[in-house]
Amino acid sequence: MSVNKEIRRITTNTLQKMKSKGEKIAMLTAYDYSFAKTFDAAGIEIILVGDSASNVMAGHETTLPITLDQMIYHAASVVRGVSRGLVVVDLPFGAYQGNSKEALNSTIRIMKETGAHAVKLEGGEEVIESVKRIISAGVPVMGHLGLTPQSIYKFGTYIVRAREEAEAEKLQRDARLLEETGCFSIVLEKIPALLAKQVSQSLQIPTIGIGAGRYCDGQVLVMHDMLGITTEFKPRFLRQYLNLNDTITGAVQQYINDVKDGDFPNEDEQY
Ligand code: KIV
Repeated sequence: MSVNKEIRRITTNTLQKMKSKGEKIAMLTAYDYSFAKTFDAAGIEIILVGDSASNVMAGHETTLPITLDQMIYHAASVVRGVSRGLVVVDLPFGAYQGNSKEALNSTIRIMKETGAHAVKLEGGEEVIESVKRIISAGVPVMGHLGLTPQSIYKFGTYIVRAREEAEAEKLQRDARLLEETGCFSIVLEKIPALLAKQVSQSLQIPTIGIGAGRYCDGQVLVMHDMLGITTEFKPRFLRQYLNLNDTITGAVQQYINDVKDGDFPNEDEQY
């Protein structure tokens, strides 16, 4: 695979053009400088500094505990590693649900303190005033519908969302509303593939799916899951491209043996 070097910097316009041409968009999460730099050089279009950092970086069970300060730390590290991709940062739980002013203030902190290019927030109609206010301030917003992990205690489970007609209709309404309000893209998480297809075909803006099937305009995965750093999380939608946990475990065990045997460092590895 070759990276399209003609695209110097991915913008929301680039993504729009990709949808128009039927070119799929690849998005991955990243939370630190080193991985972000590698993913960017590999040609990923969007890097999401997801609040999944709460799970995979901090070891929490849900995304709820991560703070705005912690998201800003991760996002600033990611931005330093990226020269081509679009960096999107999740507004964490508690940073935007209060009111639209709070949402804008949180967004302004993210934009000023990290250098990121856009924010993402969960929900439709309930958060539309916040979406409007952030976009009015000139900041691109990515929506997020379907399974919205910040509401996990409302759902009570991580099962597929919007299987029932009423929920599917609300999701379609919310998607239209987010587009009309000016979102540049919407993440669709864990919903039936045919519903994601209908939504994707009815919108002008690109949809990015996770567990939402093949008809979305792009796909996103959490880096720890697709690289096989996490070991217990194996939902049907996850394609694991590496088993980094085994590779790292083997390397660390080899290092331990080499240290204990006096094999490391050798003559060439000392001054
Ligand atoms: O936080 C995250 O990683 C996300 C993706 C699952 C889309 O929101």
